[in-house]
Amino acid sequence: MTTFHALKVAKIEPETADSVEITFSVPVALAEQFVWRPGQHLTLKTRIGNEDIRRCYSICRAGRDGEISVAVKGIANGRFSQYALRELRAGMELEVMVPQGTFGYAPNANHSGSYLALAAGSGITPMLAIIEATLSAEPQSQFTLIYGNRSSRSMMFRQALADMKDRWPQRLQLIYLFSQEQTESELFHGRLDGAKLHALGDTLIDFTGFDRAFICGPQAMMQETQTALISLGLDGGKIGVEHFNTPDSTSNHAARAQAAGRTVTLRHDGHERQIVLEEGDESVLDAALRQGADLPFACKGGVCATCKCRVVSGEAEMAINYSLEADQIAAGYILSCQALPKGNGLVLDFDV
Ligand code: FES
Repeated sequence: MTTFHALKVAKIEPETADSVEITFSVPVALAEQFVWRPGQHLTLKTRIGNEDIRRCYSICRAGRDGEISVAVKGIANGRFSQYALRELRAGMELEVMVPQGTFGYAPNANHSGSYLALAAGSGITPMLAIIEATLSAEPQSQFTLIYGNRSSRSMMFRQALADMKDRWPQRLQLIYLFSQEQTESELFHGRLDGAKLHALGDTLIDFTGFDRAFICGPQAMMQETQTALISLGLDGGKIGVEHFNTPDSTSNHAARAQAAGRTVTLRHDGHERQIVLEEGDESVLDAALRQGADLPFACKGGVCATCKCRVVSGEAEMAINYSLEADQIAAGYILSCQALPKGNGLVLDFDV
């Protein structure tokens, strides 16, 4: 399930001055494995210098046979994003993991609903797929998108959204907010945050009327807007949040120092081996990779759950968790990229 496949880049199209859409060709033999649900992401892997770099990007296009696309926004000093913007070309190959992730929505032709998407910056990427797939498959459903950017120039997928608005003028409502650009009304000026949602709730939108809401953007925006939606009357159980920004450092220094020297037993591919943590190791996964174990991982940020395993015995603590559900945690699953042993005797099973 977590295998990488070499996919050829079919095309690279600029979206804004600092973002591109990368479209891969999916050969017929892999078509079944690359079936995806709107909201899911791909993990891309390539070698830059002497290092294997992996990054997760949301799939942005719905329903095009034989192709799958992600969007990459450039980050200053971001090794993969700068590589994608400057060096990647059509015809080159990248290692691509099959679609993963629990965020999103599987449209159903028998459903009719009213849906809300809140996106900031590149957080639009999974929303584009969710909105297009939902309005295509559910002829009675409606979508409202509130999309925050610094300016219209920095806004990704402007043309794709305009095309969707032309296709579904009655069923798609687009509300654009700009924080560094003059707007016709003060209501549309500023950041997408809790205060702005309350202002929109006072004047334009009844947030209690949505059957589902999806949020994707920077961490602070997601926390604030989720809280605001609940205070505006939307049931918290109807809100899905995509934590696509992955922090670099996953555990604090004190916790790492305590874990140093502890031994962990790993079961993977039918074999068992022991590893020992050092103080520089961020997690069990880091320690295992440093000692040559070939364990599955993608984001290293607690988001994708590719690294999940089950605690057979002993105890571990996780720094963050954006992907395991409460029932998985209750069943003993943890994210190895976020886990440190709480003592000796931790045994982890990756073959589950
Ligand atoms: S590698 Fe993505 S959650 Fe651990």
